[in-house]
Amino acid sequence: MKILFLDQSGKPGGAELCLLDIAKPYRESCLVGMFADGEFRKLLERDRIPVEVLSDAPIDVQKESGLIQGISQMIRQLPLILKVSSYAKNHNLIYTNTQKSLVIGAIASLLSRRPLVYHLHDILSVEHFSRINRWIAVTLANRFASLVIANSESSRTAFIEAGGRVELVSVVYNGFDIEQYRSPLRSVPQVRQALGVEQKFVVGHFSRLSPWKGQHILIQALTQCSDDVVALFVGDALFGEQDYAQQLRNQVNELKLGDRVKFLGFQSDIISLMTACDLVAHTSTAPEPFGRVIVEAMLCGTPVVATAAGGAIELVQPAQTGWLTPPNDVPALATVINYCHAHPEQAKPIAQAAQLQARQRFNLEGVNRQIHELLEKVRNEE
Ligand code: UDP
Ligand code: GLC
Repeated sequence: MKILFLDQSGKPGGAELCLLDIAKPYRESCLVGMFADGEFRKLLERDRIPVEVLSDAPIDVQKESGLIQGISQMIRQLPLILKVSSYAKNHNLIYTNTQKSLVIGAIASLLSRRPLVYHLHDILSVEHFSRINRWIAVTLANRFASLVIANSESSRTAFIEAGGRVELVSVVYNGFDIEQYRSPLRSVPQVRQALGVEQKFVVGHFSRLSPWKGQHILIQALTQCSDDVVALFVGDALFGEQDYAQQLRNQVNELKLGDRVKFLGFQSDIISLMTACDLVAHTSTAPEPFGRVIVEAMLCGTPVVATAAGGAIELVQPAQTGWLTPPNDVPALATVINYCHAHPEQAKPIAQAAQLQARQRFNLEGVNRQIHELLEKVRNEE
């Protein structure tokens, strides 16, 4: 099957890392069209997935943008739309991985008469998107898509509540290459020594720096934990949230936590780092559509605490495969950290149960099979 994948981002966020795994089996006959250059292209090239940057004019529509801005952007994007439709003619279907690529892909699908698939990585709710943006996504999907793949039940429900057609949506969780997690590139002592945290209780936070990812909640929680609890923040401000990154640094200084907090920036060897942590914390303040980092922690065999909202609720069974705390609840997070610190023998079997379950539920082979069957159905229905 020849697939034209579209993703507007040059940066490797969770949706892009997910696409990387989905595109691999089609590498002989697919093309990933990006609307901006960046590190994501290098990851695709490393995996020998054909990629082309189709535009160098960034699509400047923010999640909260209005109609006028949207329309003027569409006019600017006309050359891109025409290019995508001409490429689509040489492919069996268009697979859009992001909202902005849905807009371009929908029009290209109309012009090229190729079926459109939309992989929905977002919760289309008021916390995440303006009313107009939700309307655009749902209207285009309803009108042009043959299939919407939602990354969780929560994303599916929000799509339907925003007016999306029920019969369009299938839920497919992100898949992970399980084998990679069995043998981290670096050993635990190696990582802990390099970071100078051998004798500490290490809480890892693996997310781009963004207000809704709630790094500030973990920093605050440290004040309610003993001095040997330290936090590692792995991730960068990927989508221009530099102010928040500075805010976090100020918070650390004001709370005099400089010797207990490390910002490591974007890292590629997540598996070694996560395996070396005593606990992974997910602290999103708005519902997380899926939450790759939660599953990754489970696969590493590291205990995980996540915010009880959105997809995270589907991933973690409290006290069986991890812990859930209410969004924005600093004392609840501190309580879980302190519990895991004081009772490693209780946390360990929970992490092991999570690891076993995650290997079954999120196995990439199974997930890719599921996606392939859905895509075959779309192709056959045309
Ligand atoms: N990640 C990474 N390097 C970093 C921080 C994060 O490779 O420095 C990866 C992380 O392992 C995960 C993805 O980025 O696979 C983030 O996906 P998630 O679904 O957790 O959140 P998103 O950022 O997509 O909302
Ligand atoms: C998006 C979501 C994240 C999800 C990822 C992969 O980036 O924010 O929750 O895990 O896509 O589906």
